[in-house]
Amino acid sequence: MIRAAITAVGHYVPEEILTNAELEKLVETNDEWIRSRTGIRERRILRDPDKATSFMAAECAKELLHNRGIGAEEVDAIIVATVTPDMFFPPTASLVQKEIGATKAWGFDLSAACSGFLFALTTGAGLVESGRYQKVMVIGADHMSRIVDYTDRSTCILFGDAAAGVLLEADIEGNGLMDTIHRTDGNNWEYLCMLGGGSLHPPSAQTIENRWHYIRQEGQPVFKLAVKGMANAAAEIMERNNLSGEDVSWLVPHQANLRIIDATARRMGLSMEKVMLNIERYGNTTAATIPLCLYEWQPQLRKGENLVLAAFGGGFTWGASYLKWAYDPE
Ligand code: UT7
Repeated sequence: MIRAAITAVGHYVPEEILTNAELEKLVETNDEWIRSRTGIRERRILRDPDKATSFMAAECAKELLHNRGIGAEEVDAIIVATVTPDMFFPPTASLVQKEIGATKAWGFDLSAACSGFLFALTTGAGLVESGRYQKVMVIGADHMSRIVDYTDRSTCILFGDAAAGVLLEADIEGNGLMDTIHRTDGNNWEYLCMLGGGSLHPPSAQTIENRWHYIRQEGQPVFKLAVKGMANAAAEIMERNNLSGEDVSWLVPHQANLRIIDATARRMGLSMEKVMLNIERYGNTTAATIPLCLYEWQPQLRKGENLVLAAFGGGFTWGASYLKWAYDPE
């Protein structure tokens, strides 16, 4: 069986930092509340009105090419996981393809909110496993600041902008994506959504007045379901693959709330030293959180190490993936 393995990691984060202190000037909140309830200190914001998700995703794609030492014409497919595409269509993947000059590639966007990268990784791996495609880019990119209501203190403190992604290629040494558990449950979708702008509620004076072009979230029910969903999926994938806490080198969790991550690690029997955590510096970057962790931890990862990726997001969508890291740092 051909397995799909990650052979390069790339990223892009905007330079501008939005701190908790700055948010204190926008809404009634404070640094202590934000840090103790979420673990977030600051996030990155892409302010330039001429730049959007495809810009960040393309910068990430260029870094992927550089890090793998290949040309854009060698890329077979580009999948961009995002809920903040530049436009409804064309797909963000088309804009990335054009920007990097991937003349042989096809591509599309995948919408699964905070589970977007996890689902796109499985989709991209399927292309490689089929034997039909050799080099597949999977990028998670979200420009959350464009859909955040900076008058809503319960959501504006959470999100940031970023892109990060991986290149997938065939592995014959037994490493790569080993197993996945993914779920979608449309019950209670109203707890986390953006109501306006789609075919149900196209943009109108009314949707603007209702503030329907911003994220809305009922924090508490989402929190409870996220803890359950992420922890259950991670525990189930360990059990199914006979992995103990000892066997797992790293948990790579979606970064939505430090307390959700903590609960997931405890359920897996992992100490926090084995958990990739950068929520403090980036907040929740939706589809970019997991690959952004992989990017930052990449110099420490060793061939054959067991990683469990886990996410929960709007939809609801959630799941876990088990992979064996396929290369040593240079
Ligand atoms: O990534 C996709 C999935 N999303 C998630 O996983 C997010 C899940 N939810 C959460 O992470 C948490 O629910 C939040 C961080 C969003 C909120 O934390 P919480 O501990 O659930 O707070 P809460 O919503 O229960 O609110 C507690 C209190 C409320 O005041 P009262 O009613 O007790 O007086 C809120 O109005 O905290 C208040 N509050 C704030 N206070 C200061 C809400 N936001 C803020 C704020 N600053 N920014």
